[in-house]
Amino acid sequence: MTILVTGGAGFIGGNFVLDWLAAHDETVVNLDKLTYAGNLQTLASLRDNPRHVFVQGDIGDRELVANLLVQYQPRAVLNFAAESHVDRSIHGPGDFIHTNVLGTFNLLESVRAYWTALPAEEQQAFRFLHVSTDEVYGTLSPADPPFAEDNRYEPNSPYSASKAASDHLVRAWHHTYGLPVLTTNCSNNYGPYHFPEKLIPLVILNALAGKPLPIYGDGQQVRDWLYVKDHCSAIRRVLEAGQLGETYNVGGWNEKANLDVVRSICALLDELRPRADGQPYASQITYVQDRPGHDRRYAIDARKLQRELGWKPAETFDSGIRKTVQWYLDNQAWVAGVTSGSYRDWLSQQYGA
Ligand code: NAD
Ligand code: DAU
Repeated sequence: MTILVTGGAGFIGGNFVLDWLAAHDETVVNLDKLTYAGNLQTLASLRDNPRHVFVQGDIGDRELVANLLVQYQPRAVLNFAAESHVDRSIHGPGDFIHTNVLGTFNLLESVRAYWTALPAEEQQAFRFLHVSTDEVYGTLSPADPPFAEDNRYEPNSPYSASKAASDHLVRAWHHTYGLPVLTTNCSNNYGPYHFPEKLIPLVILNALAGKPLPIYGDGQQVRDWLYVKDHCSAIRRVLEAGQLGETYNVGGWNEKANLDVVRSICALLDELRPRADGQPYASQITYVQDRPGHDRRYAIDARKLQRELGWKPAETFDSGIRKTVQWYLDNQAWVAGVTSGSYRDWLSQQYGA
């Protein structure tokens, strides 16, 4: 048996592929365009693994995807591939429309053609799992209940609008064509192999480099943090037992203000790798201009996934963030590989000198 994973050289897709191959005997065909966010170093341990087939390419390339589907006959396609960074979507939304909207559309069409031609039994067993985000629901006030699956879609950034569009396409391909789809909407992930444009790895690396720790606005925006391995276990569970056409919210019940997240990282670094001058890392915290249209609060109600499929996260924020900080301390070679020239260009574009 085989599964096809898209975006499997990125942060979550990479963790998913590594965990899948460690626990299953199925082959993974990994289709990734290797944008700035795709990193084969993440998959280095799979170099000699015959059950990992890496293919560089675009989910929107119909001919390539059609050929891969016919050649490998996967029983499922899991779509992680996306442009994923909100700040980049503000600077340049075009790539987000290309991959998240048009790419998902083309992928759905390729998969539909393949699925339609399958024998009846394989058609029934086939799944298309679309990995999406809580950001499609917009923003919450402090007193609002967390996002449930029936919340209205109210995306506020070019990124979240493009993901919302992709979710709608996936839903429509089920409703209209009967494609056997599943969608997951997850909160903020953190953990190993996270590209350091995102808050948690950026803060760890800047702290160690003696650089400012940039806090947008007042730092009181709230995110609901989930350790990436828990997201991967949720996806495996939904793939295994999710009801066709359903969406499942995935979250860690870990709401934290950004400033508190950054302070937790600083405290861990003070313990694990104290500064040479004895000063606390928190002294590097710097307030910078807020993100335009910055969503104030995200929080996920993950009770449906727990009630119907028995999933719950294994990590608390305290256990997950400790593992994460330790991972970055132990994996400086991976870090050096991603902090390339193009990454440095992004930092100066976003944060100035
Ligand atoms: P990422 O940016 O780290 O990785 C994305 C991967 O997709 C990269 O390897 C990139 O090369 C690849 N890719 C981009 N465009 C492609 C294309 N056109 N064809 C093939 N491959 C392409 O993203 P991530 O953080 O790992 O997120 C993965 C998925 O999970 C995304 O769909 C994202 O919206 C969703 N998600 C992310 C989070 C989070 O906190 N990071 C939370 C919820 C949902
Ligand atoms: O909620 C799920 C989403 O989480 C995913 O769909 C996205 O792909 C993922 O990137 C993430 O989006 P966020 O915008 O929440 O993540 P980011 O790490 O960019 O920012 C987290 C919070 O920290 C957010 O409120 C902005 C703030 N921030 C971020 C950076 C990079 C700062 O204060 N300073 C920074 O330098």
